[in-house]
Amino acid sequence: MARVGFLGTGEIASAMVRGLAGQGHTIFVSERNADIAAELSAEFQEVSIAANADVVGKSDIVIACLMAATARLVLPDLPWRSDHAVISVMVDVPCADLATLCAPAIDIALSIPMPFIARGGCPLPVYPESSALRALFGERNIILPVASEVALNAHFAASSLSAPILRMLVEGTQWLARETGDPVAAEAYVTALFAGYMHPDGSGHHLAGLLGSLATEGGLNAALRTAIEGVGAPEALRDGMDGLRPRLGLPTR
Ligand SMILES: NC(=O)c1ccc[n+]([C@@H]2O[C@H](COP(=O)([O-])OP(=O)(O)OC[C@H]3O[C@@H](n4cnc5c(N)ncnc54)[C@H](OP(=O)(O)O)[C@@H]3O)[C@@H](O)[C@H]2O)c1
Repeated sequence: MARVGFLGTGEIASAMVRGLAGQGHTIFVSERNADIAAELSAEFQEVSIAANADVVGKSDIVIACLMAATARLVLPDLPWRSDHAVISVMVDVPCADLATLCAPAIDIALSIPMPFIARGGCPLPVYPESSALRALFGERNIILPVASEVALNAHFAASSLSAPILRMLVEGTQWLARETGDPVAAEAYVTALFAGYMHPDGSGHHLAGLLGSLATEGGLNAALRTAIEGVGAPEALRDGMDGLRPRLGLPTR
């Protein structure tokens, strides 16, 4: 069982603590955000609140969940050791910077949890491979080692698909709810519909295959797809992802 420290007790740290709790680990969370830290320590007996220096000093594995600008201010003053394993989930703080900010720690990895890590089943792209990440989260989640930091950053871009796709699903669900007068059933229907689709067959073409199977000429799906494509929505999504390239250090294509 590990001693695990979280720097920055915000949305993603809270979800990760919830995903880790009850498995025998000792967990330290930093004092900010005070409300979330208090909630976690009240809910889970293994969670204690500590100053940032104590979070690092008392832990074997430190999970950095700060905003990038805060991380650059806070990390250099903490008592890092060469035997620390560090997992950063922070966008905009590259591995090379983390090596400086967390020196002399050298076991440093980047990963991208999503809030539903609290329940498990979360894909966790990671670079480089991290035995600490695997030990803490591997049993309940899907560890996806990637080949380079650039590939990891491309996953950061892909993770931002969540909000635009959800925006579309919210629009469609609200449309259904207005028609039926039952928002609960509307949401149950749409979420079950999409959960039903999301079973990849390992071919790398599952989603494209699904789309192809929904292309019956004159069908409802084809009609709505034509409407969406007519206003350039897919291209806007692709251009938006391309627009993240400079920030994420991705090559221009
Ligand atoms: N949210 C996600 O779904 C998600 C997913 C993947 C990666 N990430 C990454 O995770 C990081 C945090 O994101 P988030 O959404 O969890 O943001 P957040 O909710 O704003 O969490 C950041 C936390 O840092 C705390 N903080 C500020 N200054 C601090 C200090 N000096 N010492 C310790 N803690 C301090 C903040 O406390 P106060 O509230 O008191 O200011 C806040 O609770 C970001 O780098 C983001 O890229 C987030």
